[in-house]
Amino acid sequence: MVHAAAPVARRYHDLTPHTPDSVRSGGHTLDWDNKPFPFKVYTDIPGLHLPREVDVLATPTLAAIAGYGPPPRPRLTLSALVSLLYYTAGVTKQKTYPGGGQVLFRAAASTGALYQTEVYVIVGALEDLSPGVYHFCPGDFTLRRLRDDDARGALASAVANATPGRAAATLALTGIVWRNSWKYRARTYRHLFWDGGTMLANALAAGTALGLAPRVFTGFVDDAVHKLLGVDGAGEVALALVSLGPQTASAPSGRAPVAIAHATVPLSRHVVDEPLVTHAHTVSALQTPDDVARWRHGRAPASLAAGGPTVALPTSESQEGRALGETIQRRGSTRHFARVPIALDDLGAALWAASRPVPADVPSAFTDIYMSVHAVDGLAPGTYVYRREEHVLERLEAGDFRRQAAFLCLEQPLGGDAAVTLFFLSRLEGVLAEFGERGYRLVNLEAGLAGGRAYLAAYARGFGATGLTFYDDEVVRFFQPRAAGHDAIFVVALGHAASAAGGVLGLTTIAAPTRRS
Ligand SMILES: Cc1cc2nc3c(=O)[nH]c(=O)nc-3n(C[C@H](O)[C@H](O)[C@H](O)COP(=O)(O)O)c2cc1C
Repeated sequence: MVHAAAPVARRYHDLTPHTPDSVRSGGHTLDWDNKPFPFKVYTDIPGLHLPREVDVLATPTLAAIAGYGPPPRPRLTLSALVSLLYYTAGVTKQKTYPGGGQVLFRAAASTGALYQTEVYVIVGALEDLSPGVYHFCPGDFTLRRLRDDDARGALASAVANATPGRAAATLALTGIVWRNSWKYRARTYRHLFWDGGTMLANALAAGTALGLAPRVFTGFVDDAVHKLLGVDGAGEVALALVSLGPQTASAPSGRAPVAIAHATVPLSRHVVDEPLVTHAHTVSALQTPDDVARWRHGRAPASLAAGGPTVALPTSESQEGRALGETIQRRGSTRHFARVPIALDDLGAALWAASRPVPADVPSAFTDIYMSVHAVDGLAPGTYVYRREEHVLERLEAGDFRRQAAFLCLEQPLGGDAAVTLFFLSRLEGVLAEFGERGYRLVNLEAGLAGGRAYLAAYARGFGATGLTFYDDEVVRFFQPRAAGHDAIFVVALGHAASAAGGVLGLTTIAAPTRRS
């Protein structure tokens, strides 16, 4: 289905780039006294403390990313759900700073460690958990029951698909705008989906490793989902849903869910609105189940047409590398890269993992991966683009581009010190023509998911990764003429960490839940 252009998304994107000038003249100072609290705390609902024992997730990481796991579970148990929540959004590490400040780092990467992505679970048929809608708080490792009806029928209707109505449970990811916009202001709209995407990478891989056949839904009647979760749809917005577990008998369609409004601790003293974010989200909402069904029929962009000469990448062996549980436990953003090479099959594995199809309600492959190669054994330094169907790199330009790559990544040395820096670019106009304003959500979510998978592949194979932000137009210019008509969406740098500790300097792995095989 071809939409008219998506003027609001386009305008939002064009108004929120980073440029050397915007970074120098930005003048935004952080109001530390008004920093939002990183956990959502309900004050009127008792917490159900979850068992502090989680599965080890023995499935090899790359296999789990590709959707190969143990046979489906006959039923979803609370203990499998707890494992899924921990590896998706749990606290995996903590760092104490001089002066006593403490950051609790989570399973998935998040811009600025601000952790605006919240997780809810719509539960239907679990042996040891009553039906209802729950909020997961990673801080005290609890679920809080926000409503006690079986909401799956209403969810299926909002999603215009029977699966969430029969799924044992469905995760709902939301973004709390102010928790991120406190630092990143209007650019937060991108971050909501990037960080939602890195979290989805974990949820899908962990769901597969737990035999829960996870499936993502990006199309839904926004207001209906907000009402089910009891969020306002402005300060906190639904990003994506993930159905889990065996299909059971359909939930009763029942009465329309009543509105809920539970009290929560304010995020900070006051909230600053970001009208660009609110507008981009509002205009991309879907109003009725019919709208959802129609929207979902958009097509994926055609694969990248063949260009210049190519280099074949080794075939990835999905059984190699660390098990998923260990990978997620070790993951962290590399803070300094050693200027040492990674192997060609390591790069191949990261690209392969990043590009696996997504089990979702819409097609995937909304971004193309361009890269600046600095130190990969057997590969001449220079720029390349990945052609996913053929699993080959197309050569663009030979040369040592470390300095340029660091510049493109907002002048951060990480972008140039990495063995390779991946730039996710999108033929955005085509996606917006197919999927309208909501296509912008898809592009950013999928790029975050692909980047999250690249992180996992790196830690599975014993090297490191970090997400990076970037100078939008300079990135596209750098990859011209091949990248004509593209927009820059996301960046991940890969390489060995400069510390023996595997790249997470000064962090301690916390005594998180015991891991059970
Ligand atoms: C989309 C995205 C962009 C990021 N951009 C940067 C960046 O520009 N510079 C940087 O040093 N770290 C960046 N990071 C890393 C975050 O700071 C990091 O994920 C966060 O501090 C949490 O730490 P952890 O990933 O080690 O758990 C980015 C992460 C993501 C997911």
